[in-house]
Amino acid sequence: MELFEAIAKRHSYRGAFKDIPVSRDDLKKIVEAGMKAPSGKNAQTTSFVIIDDKDILEKIGGMHVSNKAMQQCKAMIVCIINNVPEPVYEGFSFEVEDCAAAVENMLLAITALGLASVWIDGWLRRESRAEKIGDLLSLPKGKIVRIILPIGIPAEEHSQPEKLPFCKRAWFNKFGE
Ligand SMILES: Cc1cc2nc3c(=O)[nH]c(=O)nc-3n(C[C@H](O)[C@H](O)[C@H](O)COP(=O)(O)O)c2cc1C
Repeated sequence: MELFEAIAKRHSYRGAFKDIPVSRDDLKKIVEAGMKAPSGKNAQTTSFVIIDDKDILEKIGGMHVSNKAMQQCKAMIVCIINNVPEPVYEGFSFEVEDCAAAVENMLLAITALGLASVWIDGWLRRESRAEKIGDLLSLPKGKIVRIILPIGIPAEEHSQPEKLPFCKRAWFNKFGE
């Protein structure tokens, strides 16, 4: 799939998945796309745990009662950063931005492969879910689950919600004109 088609087709998918596994080749391709994303000082601070074990998927997916994609996905990519982000440039750390850049690359790769996913982030921050999932995955002390991407072959048709028109968000040369 051409890049701009993938950008237009990517959307947050929270529907049912087909009962077909996602190949490890595809999962590796997706994570490699994430690893090629830019990162502050090229520090490459995001680590990834790729889950395709049915029991672990069920344990994590079962925590998200309102999201079919989390419950039915055939794989998850769990993105991990330092709990206390380490400074890499003039006292600044960029771990959250690094992680977000990796995730967007992966979402585009997922779309290009005919798969679907959703950026699970806000949900992780409540009820110590990130910590509970970290324990399940034996994360070392100091690391935290920041974003999860549930992945599968979509069984439902959805599309990207409408975005604001260009003229409401972008201008040449001067803000608002
Ligand atoms: C930082 C961030 C956090 C998000 N957290 C969640 C989440 O916890 N659960 C969820 O279902 N979607 C989450 N989303 C997906 C957004 O709801 C979604 O991107 C937005 O509604 C726009 O829809 P689209 O992705 O289909 O364009 C998150 C997206 C971002 C960028």
